Amino acid sequence: MTLVTHMRLLAILLGGLFPVMALAKPVPLDDASRQEIVERIAPVGTVCKQGDDCATNSGAVASTASEPRSGEAVFNQFCTACHTTGLLGAPKKGDTAEWTKRANALGGFNKLLQQGYAGIGSMPAKGTCMTCSEEEFGSAMQYMGAKKE
Ligand code: HEC
Repeated sequence: MTLVTHMRLLAILLGGLFPVMALAKPVPLDDASRQEIVERIAPVGTVCKQGDDCATNSGAVASTASEPRSGEAVFNQFCTACHTTGLLGAPKKGDTAEWTKRANALGGFNKLLQQGYAGIGSMPAKGTCMTCSEEEFGSAMQYMGAKKE
């Protein structure tokens, strides 16, 4: 077959298709179904720019993630298992005298923080809070009764 015959065949094929496509008219949509489609094809994540309404909300979530957790939150999640009952000889929450004694023996709150953060005796490093910053670890210590001088 020559190129010309090819072109001619193509023209015949297309000529046969066009009328069919022309017959397939779009179905008119009512408002409800149009809204439904808009929602269905909406992007999964919406980009928030500063100043947008959505930016105020998502900003709060984002900053929560980067802000240090409170001593109470860290304690309740990680430290309570041992430090509420004094398991394995852990100084108990609220036993300020014991916390002070330990801090004084080492030379202060920060020294106690360092030693606890590194792990001591039966306590694993960071008191099992592997994501805890020293600041968060210290807040939990204060929540348990250690006095920051
Ligand atoms: C698996 C049990 C366990 C968990 C969980 C735990 N601790 Fe402890 N912790 C201990 C024990 C036991 C000691 C006493 C260690 C010793 O004196 O030998 C201790 C001691 C400490 C001390 C004193 C360290 C020192 O040098 O005397 C600090 C500070 C401390 N824990 C902080 C925390 C914080 C903060 C958390 C939570 C983030 C935590 N611990 C979670 C068991 C635990």
